[in-house]
Amino acid sequence: MKTQAPLRIGVAGLGRAFTLMLPTFRRDARVQLVAAADPLAQACAQFERDFQAPSYSSVEALCADPQVEVVYIATPHQFHAEHVQIAAAHGKHVLVEKPMAITLAQCTAMLAATQAAGVAMVVGHSHSFNAPILHTRALIDSGAFGAVRMLTALNFTDFLYRPRRPEELVTEAGGGVIHSQATHQIDMLRLLGGGRVRSVMAHTGAWDPARPTEGAYQALLTFDDGAFASATYSGYGHFDTDTWMDQIGEMGQAKSAHDHGAARKRLADLRLATEESALKARRNYGGDLYIPPAPAAAHDHQHFGPVIVSCDKADLRPTSTGVEIFTDTARRFEPLPRPLVPRSEVIDELIDVVQHHRPAVHSGAWARATTEVCLALLASAKLQRPQTLQWQVGLPGR
Ligand SMILES: NC(=O)c1ccc[n+]([C@@H]2O[C@H](COP(=O)([O-])OP(=O)(O)OC[C@H]3O[C@@H](n4cnc5c(N)ncnc54)[C@H](O)[C@@H]3O)[C@@H](O)[C@H]2O)c1
Repeated sequence: MKTQAPLRIGVAGLGRAFTLMLPTFRRDARVQLVAAADPLAQACAQFERDFQAPSYSSVEALCADPQVEVVYIATPHQFHAEHVQIAAAHGKHVLVEKPMAITLAQCTAMLAATQAAGVAMVVGHSHSFNAPILHTRALIDSGAFGAVRMLTALNFTDFLYRPRRPEELVTEAGGGVIHSQATHQIDMLRLLGGGRVRSVMAHTGAWDPARPTEGAYQALLTFDDGAFASATYSGYGHFDTDTWMDQIGEMGQAKSAHDHGAARKRLADLRLATEESALKARRNYGGDLYIPPAPAAAHDHQHFGPVIVSCDKADLRPTSTGVEIFTDTARRFEPLPRPLVPRSEVIDELIDVVQHHRPAVHSGAWARATTEVCLALLASAKLQRPQTLQWQVGLPGR
């Protein structure tokens, strides 16, 4: 079989998202980092040292580099649409971080730009790429457990108290847990429920005046085929659902209960938004507080909190090590091999789309539908009534 040369990736935005994808890029031989762009000089300097590759101060210059085949766009949400359009105009394929964008008009413009340029777009990483979620989908597709009837997803984290840029605390600018965290949870529920959400009813909570964006929500989704789902999220840093995930954290890492409250404690000494924003940058790649990620081979699969899929003949529960199956009379566990490369599922899909010209699961149309559900969640909470949807799509070929 012909072996393909590694996909040459240029990175736009060397911040936290890049830090989380870095173990994947370093360890997956199917990709190679060949350039980067970030306005932060210290991040660019570290990139040049680590990869002996050029860095640029603008996305435009990065996209003009002929070495770059795919642009990984990991800049703040509000720039995704503009940066995807720049990449497409230069004929580059795109891997763009979640959320795809802040508005549906931006999503549509991104789709139009990539389609017109004939380049591929994959939206992720989102936790719907996680192997246990994909394996649960495959179990559903096997038909052995009957139709999906109900989905339950919960996640309690300290999201709101991690260091933030000012706009991350302003909903209209893309801040809060709906834009950043519901994207993961809704994407997982759509993948498991088939994709086409018919209506959304939701409540949101913004309970901390010092961080006045949404920190929590509960939503009820109804799918086209009558299945329904509940999604619950709190980022207020009190209860931690990782307690119910065998004390394994979101990144698949072992987590100590003694670290409870660490995020709030770290923030307590900071008084100014500028200090908080600076703390975020200092903890990122190239910053003086940056800690390179631990060897990822020791980790289990990443997860986004407890999920239960209730089918006619069984309940399926993805965990960070496999999928637990509860049938009428038996309970069994299907283990998955430990990931050698974290988030390699993202590279699987990128390679499938760019090199093998297969349709993306996490395509622009798919991610626009997830953004539509998230925006409907905000609208439902504001207007106190259910919202219907119009941009929903199913899984490829269905
Ligand atoms: N999938 C995940 O697990 C995950 C995790 C974190 C963030 N994200 C997503 O990644 C995106 C970035 O979030 P973050 O937390 O990494 O933010 P961040 O502030 O840590 O990093 C953003 C980086 O982009 C750079 N940047 C800003 N404007 C730029 C421009 N015009 N051109 C090039 N670089 C620019 C900044 O200097 C910074 O280094 C968001 O959309 C977020 O939702 C995804």
